Amino acid sequence: MPYRLGKTLITAPQIQTRVQELASLISKDYSNRDLLLICVLKGAAVFWADLCRALCVPCQSDFVAMESYGNGTSPTTKPRFTKAADVSLAGRDILIVEDIIDTGHTSVRLKELLWAASPRSLAMCALLDKAERREVATLIDYCGFIIPNAFVVGYGLDFAQQYRHLPHIAVLET
Ligand code: IMP
Ligand code: MG
Repeated sequence: MPYRLGKTLITAPQIQTRVQELASLISKDYSNRDLLLICVLKGAAVFWADLCRALCVPCQSDFVAMESYGNGTSPTTKPRFTKAADVSLAGRDILIVEDIIDTGHTSVRLKELLWAASPRSLAMCALLDKAERREVATLIDYCGFIIPNAFVVGYGLDFAQQYRHLPHIAVLET
């Protein structure tokens, strides 16, 4: 295989500290609201699992899936909605939980799709922001880490469905 696991970019303790910080901010902002976490499968599942358990406000969770990458590292510009939410989104305070914002296309499309379901509010929490790769603007209300332009894996993020189980974020080297 021409790819191998490279250096650690963010350690497991660094991730855990930041997740607690994000959860505190979110808990403050969403007290007395109708919080519905929308976890974007599959990459955000590990982040969602830690984030929701660190919240100290009531919330519900649901899951959606968007296609953006196959087994390679090149982006598609028209992400597909492959699994919609099961619960009604109308009137809810939705917080999208994403693993990484890269070009921004997936995020923009996902927000369009979710706004169409008439939520009361819609915000974005992303663990990673590859800011220099952005092609379309998208607001990240809660951002874990801004990272350089590298393909990263671990803590839910994959390459060809591998490496999701790593407790840290590492660079995939070619
Ligand atoms: P975007 O549409 O280009 O912003 O891509 C968003 C999606 O691409 C993310 O939700 C990830 O699933 C995937 N992605 C982008 N960059 C990486 C990466 O470095 N590692 C793993 N997945 C990535
Ligand atoms: Mg994703």
